[in-house]
Amino acid sequence: MPVLKNISTLYTCPFEGAQSDIGPVEGAAIAWSGKTIEWAGREADLPETYQNEPALDAGGNMVIPGLVDCHTHLCFGGWRPDEFEMRIQGRSYLEIAKAGGGILSTVKHTRAASEDQLFDKASRLLDKILQNGTTTIECKSGYGLSTEDELKQLRVYKRLADKFPGTLVSTFLGAHTFPPEFKNNRAGYIDLIINEMIPAVAQEKLAEFCDIFVEDSAFNPDEARKIFEAGKKAGLHPKLHADQLSSGGGAELAAEVGAVSADHLERISDEGISKMAGHDVVGVTLPIASLYTQQPYLNCRKLVNGGVKVAVATDFNPGSAPSYDLPLAMMLTCNHGRLTPAETLKAATIYAAKAINRHETVGSIEPGKKADFLVLDAPDVNFWLYHYKGASVVNKSVAGIYS
Ligand code: NIG
Ligand code: FE
Repeated sequence: MPVLKNISTLYTCPFEGAQSDIGPVEGAAIAWSGKTIEWAGREADLPETYQNEPALDAGGNMVIPGLVDCHTHLCFGGWRPDEFEMRIQGRSYLEIAKAGGGILSTVKHTRAASEDQLFDKASRLLDKILQNGTTTIECKSGYGLSTEDELKQLRVYKRLADKFPGTLVSTFLGAHTFPPEFKNNRAGYIDLIINEMIPAVAQEKLAEFCDIFVEDSAFNPDEARKIFEAGKKAGLHPKLHADQLSSGGGAELAAEVGAVSADHLERISDEGISKMAGHDVVGVTLPIASLYTQQPYLNCRKLVNGGVKVAVATDFNPGSAPSYDLPLAMMLTCNHGRLTPAETLKAATIYAAKAINRHETVGSIEPGKKADFLVLDAPDVNFWLYHYKGASVVNKSVAGIYS
């Protein structure tokens, strides 16, 4: 039963309270047994039972829950550095996509790769992601766009989940865009998603969520409604890429279909904010995508003021967000999203866990939760996100394994 002592400040990040309530405890200790936290509080109050247990030293550093990246596209073939250069030279994300780049370029490379090749690549990335402090990760398909190739990506995630000490949650994103063979047959592709892909995903239990890119350039709200309905019948909970490049009623749709989260939202309407608040849909900001596509950032302050819980994620993918650095996304959320470091910490822990239905097991440091936390080389959360230098993880405990 290990005990971690000498923590300058422990941020427990309870689900309850406001976006800014991160439950700080000064001079703290944590005790856990196996994979589960048994006790957390002031070291001076450490119960008798733990006094003689082997003590680990946090070195006077701060401790937070393991970070939760609730939106990534981890498994893909190839990369797209050429598009990075093109955007710098002034071509837009949409222009590049229309010229055959964008998502479809990654679809080509993902289709050409074997499951083992994709697994090896994603596995190497996941090791680095864990080192950077992300202990829970959501991973989407969406670069296959055929039944076999979507299943291939999701099977990679299943294999990764089995070996990952943290938590990996999978999302089916067959409705990412229309593949070339259905370019002139939208209804045909939607039929394929509904009648073939979703049943196959459900049968192999390969995903928990069904995500859709709702956008002028992708799926419209009517098409999305049909797909969500089929997904729900198969036990897949709705999630959305919404209001990123155009204000197309994505946030409103998220509320209507009872989505767990709506992500991007840079062009959300006031109506969308109030509907999301009313239906407790988490708003996920993805500032690395804004950074790399030279697009406006989401004003997260507006969402918090409107009663929406805000989470932050990387959107890691080879096109619009080629970085898996969640602390970078957090720093951008402070500077451009206008959330304080405390609010941003809650966005990358318990609220991010809520966005993937894992808030009862991870995302906070409380008895009964998974022993999953990070010791960071910083005196407090303000300093950590102000003096940005990557994750600064000194030690971590994932599933009770302290390293
Ligand atoms: O979340 N918006 C849609 N999908 C990704 C982009 C994927 C890509 O460019 O490959 C996103 O930004
Ligand atoms: Fe995305």
